[in-house]
Amino acid sequence: MKNTTQILQWLLVVVFLVVVANTTSRRIEAKTLVTMANLLGPDLVMNVHCKSKDDDLGPHSVPYKVANYSFRFEPNLWETTQFWCRFLWTGGDHYFDIYIDTRDALKCNEICTWKIYTDGPCMYDRYKEEYSLCHDWNPPK
Ligand SMILES: *[C@@H]1O[C@H](CO)[C@@H](O)[C@H](O)[C@H]1NC(C)=O
Repeated sequence: MKNTTQILQWLLVVVFLVVVANTTSRRIEAKTLVTMANLLGPDLVMNVHCKSKDDDLGPHSVPYKVANYSFRFEPNLWETTQFWCRFLWTGGDHYFDIYIDTRDALKCNEICTWKIYTDGPCMYDRYKEEYSLCHDWNPPK
């Protein structure tokens, strides 16, 4: 009986340490960066406004090709972090889920790089070394 209690106490300590270590390493190392470039077309300004459940990153205007719009965040431990953006330009108005933890965390390895085309966004594939992970816009609500 005494042994069982000791084993249980040990288990609790181990679980606690694993949770703390996981949280700490994510906090320190796992600052995820999402960055995107406007490939809509020459002379088209990309107006982008991203949000998550907790954050409103505000509207930003991104010129064609010459600049990136980037933001950093800390994915939560429950792998439910999600950011979505509205993309607005002369001739287009779409939403896209720019970060879905279960879809992107492993693919990006903490830097998610996107090119935004009129047909939809394409993410950089670090294995193929090209922007080949293309997605459709979110369906209209
Ligand atoms: C935008 O980000 C990509 C990927 O990090 C980089 O290759 C490119 O040079 C950046 N463009 C500008 C204009 O900073």
